[in-house]
Amino acid sequence: MKMIVAYIRHEAFEPIRADLLEAGFPSLTITEVKGSGRQKAITEHYRGSELAVHLRPKLKIECVVESKDVGVVKEVILRHARTGSVGDGKLFILPVEEAVRIRTGEDGEMVLQAHEGDEVTVNGDLG
Ligand SMILES: Nc1ncnc2c1ncn2[C@@H]1O[C@H](COP(=O)(O)OP(=O)(O)OP(=O)(O)O)[C@@H](O)[C@H]1O
Ligand SMILES: [Mg+2]
Repeated sequence: MKMIVAYIRHEAFEPIRADLLEAGFPSLTITEVKGSGRQKAITEHYRGSELAVHLRPKLKIECVVESKDVGVVKEVILRHARTGSVGDGKLFILPVEEAVRIRTGEDGEMVLQAHEGDEVTVNGDLG
């Protein structure tokens, strides 16, 4: 199993989410983060003063998949996140040792698979 972690522009998320869902990967986590790449600070003006801004808002995507599925998930993220301008972000792939579905106690790669019974219904937590 692998975790794909990507730091992307906010605008790229919706098409990524739609294509991952379509490709059978509905499960992911996103976090609004701030980060810096290799560029120097951008100068902004606030109430007449110059301000060096080192951190830019980004979206962090975390998606754990079977190792065989890394290629397709990576391709979807790169396709939508790349504009060709500086600040497009970075993608990392990390090894994952174990996965457990907390509700049932099941573990291993099987807990990563989406299947037909997993459609969202409006009862309890929608996660
Ligand atoms: N090495 C890194 N470790 C952790 N997060 C990173 C790393 N590099 C980039 N990021 C995250 O990705 C965001 C976007 O990085 P960015 O695209 O500016 O990278 P870059 O290396 O400067 O490439 P570019 O030249 O295309 O701008 C950063 O704001 C940060 O949140
Ligand atoms: Mg940069």
